[in-house]
Order: sequence, then structure tokens, then C-alpha cells
Amino acid sequence: MAKKKKSFAATLNEQVSNEFAASQQYVAMAVYYDSETLPRLAAFFYRQAIEEREHAMMMIQYLLDVDEKVEVPDIKSQPTQYEDPITPVKEALAQEERVSSEIFGLFELARQVKDYRAEHFMQWFVKEQVEEVALMGDLLNVVERSKENLLLAEDYIAREGLGEEGADPTAPPPAGGAGG
Ligand SMILES: [Fe+2]
Ligand SMILES: [Fe+2]
Repeated sequence: MAKKKKSFAATLNEQVSNEFAASQQYVAMAVYYDSETLPRLAAFFYRQAIEEREHAMMMIQYLLDVDEKVEVPDIKSQPTQYEDPITPVKEALAQEERVSSEIFGLFELARQVKDYRAEHFMQWFVKEQVEEVALMGDLLNVVERSKENLLLAEDYIAREGLGEEGADPTAPPPAGGAGG
């Protein structure tokens, strides 16, 4: 007999938790780079951390809008030490790939249960994950090419404004308003 599927709202609440966890993970990576005196890499991850928090807040706003229960998850501690400066970026890329499959799972679930509001809501996240995976892939290329001298990566990030994107007018509204 088929296992009963979790509701969309319950699964989205799990994703709220995943997004907050990603935010915490990126703060930890930023702290690591800050402690290694790599301020551009630190700034990159501090910014990503805010974006992940924003994703969680968008999901919370959606749950509020459709009158579902919102769960605010516990915080899990994150390591702020890494064996080398490439590892955090590798982990971040793997993390974004994992989130992409979670987002596709939510999209698929919305379709299965014919929740059209949910399917529409998830569309923005599908697009967002394409960008996030591409961005982390770019950053991994940059740090791997400059692993002998990460100041080259620092220069590249500053010069190209890697990860500095303007406001996206198509983004769903976060709870509490934009900018947290
Ligand atoms: Fe996210
Ligand atoms: Fe992300």
C-alpha cells in the first residue's frame, strides 16, 4: 500500500527549516573567510545568508497567506572551521544542488495534489535555483583556479561583482517586508 504523502504545507514547513539552515551555514562560511582575512569571500557568503533567510521568509508569508500553520525551526550549530578555503564553496555547491531537488519535489507535490496556488508559488524558486547553482559553480571555478593565491579570487569577486544582484521584482514577498 502506498505511503500517505505529507501535505504540501507540512513539506513547505520542512523547506523553511532547510532555508534557515542554509542561511546559518552561509553565516558560518562567511565567518570562516572573515577569520582568514578574505573579506570578499566573506561578504559573498554573508549576502547569500541573507538571501536564504529571505527564501524562508517568503515561504512563511505564503503559508500565512493560504492560512496554514507556520513552524519556526530550531537552530543547529554549524562548523566555522574548514580544512582549506575551497571546501566551503564545494559544500555550498552541493547544498544548492540538494535544495534544487527539494524545490523540484515541492513543485511535483503541488502538481500531484492539484494545488495550483502552490505550483505557481514554487515557480519562482525553480528559476532561483538555476541561478544559485550557476553562481556557486562560477565561484568554485574561480577559487579552484586561484587556489595558490586566493587574493586573485578576491579581486575577481570585487571586479565582477559576483553574487551582487539587484532586487528581483518577480520575487514573492517575504514576511515582514523586503530587507527583513
Ligand atoms: Fe534558498
Ligand atoms: Fe540558495
